[in-house]
Amino acid sequence: MPLVDMKDMLHHAYRHGYAVGAFDLVSLDFLEGIMMAAEQARAPVILNLVESHFKSIDIELVMPAVEAAATRALVPVAIHLDHSASIDSAVKAINRGCNGVKVDAAHLDFTENTHITKAMVETAHACGVSVEGELGCVPGANGEDAERHPGDICYTSLAEAKAYVERTNVDFLAIAIGTMHGDIKGKPRLDYQRLKQINEKLAIPLVIHGGTGLSDDQYRRLIANGVAKINYFTALSKVAVKKIKENTRTNNACAYTGLLKDINQVVAGEVERCMRMWGSAGRAAEVLAQCGSWTPVEHMIMFNVEGVDKVGADMLMAEGQRVLSAIPGVREVFSGEAMQDNAKYHYTWLVRFCHPKLVDSYQQHPAYAAFNSKLLRTVSNKRVTIDFQTMQARTASVMPGFQEARA
Ligand code: 13P
Repeated sequence: MPLVDMKDMLHHAYRHGYAVGAFDLVSLDFLEGIMMAAEQARAPVILNLVESHFKSIDIELVMPAVEAAATRALVPVAIHLDHSASIDSAVKAINRGCNGVKVDAAHLDFTENTHITKAMVETAHACGVSVEGELGCVPGANGEDAERHPGDICYTSLAEAKAYVERTNVDFLAIAIGTMHGDIKGKPRLDYQRLKQINEKLAIPLVIHGGTGLSDDQYRRLIANGVAKINYFTALSKVAVKKIKENTRTNNACAYTGLLKDINQVVAGEVERCMRMWGSAGRAAEVLAQCGSWTPVEHMIMFNVEGVDKVGADMLMAEGQRVLSAIPGVREVFSGEAMQDNAKYHYTWLVRFCHPKLVDSYQQHPAYAAFNSKLLRTVSNKRVTIDFQTMQARTASVMPGFQEARA
């Protein structure tokens, strides 16, 4: 299962002087193209889901496909929610399978940005999920993505960056040093001096938004100064649109599938070009060997109840389901009742945690703690619990060669 811990992945890139691409996916063609490129280049990759794109792509429907693509991949993959509008939507994304998040708060003043980001970090870290903070403003220039990022550029301040990282405990920092979202007109002027100072002061992986439109030399200098993640979309959108236009000319019947023919191929071509330019190509095996895997945990609780009738027991089960499902990092809850009357335990919850961190942290969640002390414990003293990772997921994650052999 080559879903890996995003923090480990980006620290590997940071230590070894290359950058991992975080490529926005806006359709299954994009997903296929990005994964084809990563496998072709043997590169670690971040599948980037951007909340503003959820108007055109339903995250609930697309996440199973994204997870399936990551799970069957031979290269390390992380799944990131980018530009989340709120902590709540970031939590929903975590519960659906994202293992990195970024909440948009950089447009707010420093104190508010710090406050929101710190709260996001506390919630996400309890789920084992990494957080990208942002300081400064990377505005939109031209093109599809530009209008989602209004405002003027506001460069990241060195003094604020240090205080922000210390107070929030973010894992990575997105900085504003002259890049722009969308299609840049003219030559972007990047403030390398500022970048160098921020990198020396913080020593954590830095992130560039607005990755489209820079020269090979500009990427090289960014990476040499601590950039370990580059967000990239507009160029992928442009190659896809160009291909659709070509298909329109050559596809006389104008069939829908004909218009979309080979979108995955052109997206793959552009993604692979970036991976080779940014130095992530050929790194997959090292990353798999050195990074923690991202494997969910199944937590099973079995118990009997005393002193309540069937209606009371059903209400308890329903309340347990509600409380457990609302804990950040709980992906799914199944409530069950034994089929045999003489079963040793009559009731069960099977809870899927996104990460082993939840094994301890879910018990501290205030809603669960209250439910446990006020309700569950009063009717059920003896409970059996087991935490397990499926053998299939474990085998694939601890033995990267297993995946290779499968290929
Ligand atoms: P570009 O569209 O400029 O490549 O930027 C993408 C991005 O930063 C997504 O967050």
